[in-house]
Amino acid sequence: MQPMIAFTLNGKPVQADVPRDMPLLWVLRDVLGLTGTKFGCGEGLCGSCTVHVAGQATRSCVTAVGDVEGKGVTTIEGLGQGRLHVLQEAWLEHDVAQCGYCQPGQLMSAAALLAAKPRPTDADIDRAMDGHLCRCGTYPRIRAAIHKAAGAGR
Ligand code: FES
Ligand code: FES
Repeated sequence: MQPMIAFTLNGKPVQADVPRDMPLLWVLRDVLGLTGTKFGCGEGLCGSCTVHVAGQATRSCVTAVGDVEGKGVTTIEGLGQGRLHVLQEAWLEHDVAQCGYCQPGQLMSAAALLAAKPRPTDADIDRAMDGHLCRCGTYPRIRAAIHKAAGAGR
């Protein structure tokens, strides 16, 4: 019998009875039922599966669940802590989402950026969002929405 893996998910303690090397993304979606985090490439190349692990933007498809044991994980479901995050409000204002598939991952990286750098430059944004693929081409709107959220000062 394998030991349970325990971590904090969106502020609440959770346990998963899964192999340690199972990708965190699978555990979130298929075991714990949080489907906001999306599966895109499965190889760490598209950013759609991005969550926060100990506050850092992390590709959950290439992160073993055993590596988050005892740590805090935040997904798109926990980003706003019961209300819309300032970035989600800015996303709505700028009509960022098109098909929407990449957006949970985009938002999680944007949130990690603002937490580290409340007033990012264009270069900061481009660096932080590098590697997030959007087949709908929402990149200019994402940059504008991040600036808007930064200006909101929350
Ligand atoms: S699904 Fe994880 S980076 Fe693409
Ligand atoms: S909004 Fe469609 S992939 Fe980004």
